[in-house]
Amino acid sequence: MTIDLAALPEDFLWGTATSAYQIEGAVSEDGRSPSIWDTFSHTPGKIDNGDDGDAACDHYHRWREDIGIMRQLGTNAYRLSVAWPRVVPGGDGPVNAKGLAFYDEVIDGLLEAGITPSVTLYHWDLPQVLQDRGGWPARDTAEHFAAYASVVAERLGDRVKHWTTLNEPLCSAWIGHLEGRMAPGFTDLTAAVRTSYHLLLGHGLATQAIRAAVPGAQVGIVNNLSDIQPATDRPEDVAAAKRLDGHTNRWWLDPVHGRGFPADMVEVYGVELPEVAGDLETIAAPLDWLGLNYYFPSTVADDPTGPAPHVRSISRPGVPRTAMDWEVEAAGIERLLLRLTHDYGARKLYITENGSAYPDVVRPDGVVDDPERAAYLEQHLAACASAVRKGVPLAGYFAWSLLDNFEWAYGYDKRFGLVHVDYKTQKRTIKGSGHRYAEIVREHLGRGRSAA
Ligand code: IFM
Repeated sequence: MTIDLAALPEDFLWGTATSAYQIEGAVSEDGRSPSIWDTFSHTPGKIDNGDDGDAACDHYHRWREDIGIMRQLGTNAYRLSVAWPRVVPGGDGPVNAKGLAFYDEVIDGLLEAGITPSVTLYHWDLPQVLQDRGGWPARDTAEHFAAYASVVAERLGDRVKHWTTLNEPLCSAWIGHLEGRMAPGFTDLTAAVRTSYHLLLGHGLATQAIRAAVPGAQVGIVNNLSDIQPATDRPEDVAAAKRLDGHTNRWWLDPVHGRGFPADMVEVYGVELPEVAGDLETIAAPLDWLGLNYYFPSTVADDPTGPAPHVRSISRPGVPRTAMDWEVEAAGIERLLLRLTHDYGARKLYITENGSAYPDVVRPDGVVDDPERAAYLEQHLAACASAVRKGVPLAGYFAWSLLDNFEWAYGYDKRFGLVHVDYKTQKRTIKGSGHRYAEIVREHLGRGRSAA
């Protein structure tokens, strides 16, 4: 497929993304303490095939090789997350010098390779010790998060300017505390609502901490938003779509834009917010950019008997699906980018994750041919370029993921990488989609150079 990316800015960030627990392994090394994901993944029945993140992609030992792969891809940015239990194993208090030194070296390695680092402070790996003291439903956790953010920002901030506080807080709150399919595995609406509140408070406090430590910091938050349609035009389904929009999109966007928590959803949840005077101002600390993680659209019907937000997902016949059973619809990414620009006045946006899982195989000749993933990538990039032509201030795209990795409750079976990982040998093989991405990046960056 030929895609017209001419509208993307010349200084566009072309990246890949990963997260600590999904790739690092080395869970007991150099003073790292267990996180809630270590606990959850070692709880029988929680993860497909009984998988866990103990070894993952062994990136902790192979990060130089992985930066070498980024060089081969020609990408100019990389989104990584820092593991809180490596840096502050006690959750609060003493800093683990070895844990911090790991990230310090990785950042230097990236910069030497000409790759801009984008650092996420929380991609779901809360230190278990803090869970034992109440976890995110407790206000203290937000304060400890800001203290940890300050430690990392002070150490890396001379070289890292691009910071994310939280990745997909929706997953921590709703999937981790309401649906129970992610760590810590609760099914408790009150705990989930309190978690959502304290995550956003932690975001606001961490934003202040990063700004205090890093002159010129570019701070943002990353949300996985949904492009939502009602299954029918029945008023009940239209109302269900509005509730899912509240649950998935507005609950996370409105407070950080100074609009408070959506009143209709406060009513749906029926849980009192743990608000202290001044919190809403803290949560609404001005942002330098917004990150959008987009994978699939949602079609929903009313489900009055189901748990909040009382909706049921509808699977549309004939729509292509990935191995996650997620529908493929690139137009959804464009609609969300336009909405963030027009409804929320975003001045700078990044696609911080976008990608697809397919059941890849390494052929006898060593090639991993994944045309569906390459097509998914092309279609979504084309939709991003279309959004830019309509005025969306998109400044970069990070493909999920650099490597196949630990896909949370799905374990290692679901492969999202542009690079295949053989988990027995840890051999990395750039897939066809990785080569295609490299070609797209090369063409776009090459155009910038020849225009200069
Ligand atoms: O693997 C995850 C990632 O950790 C967060 N965003 C979605 C990805 C695919 O499910």
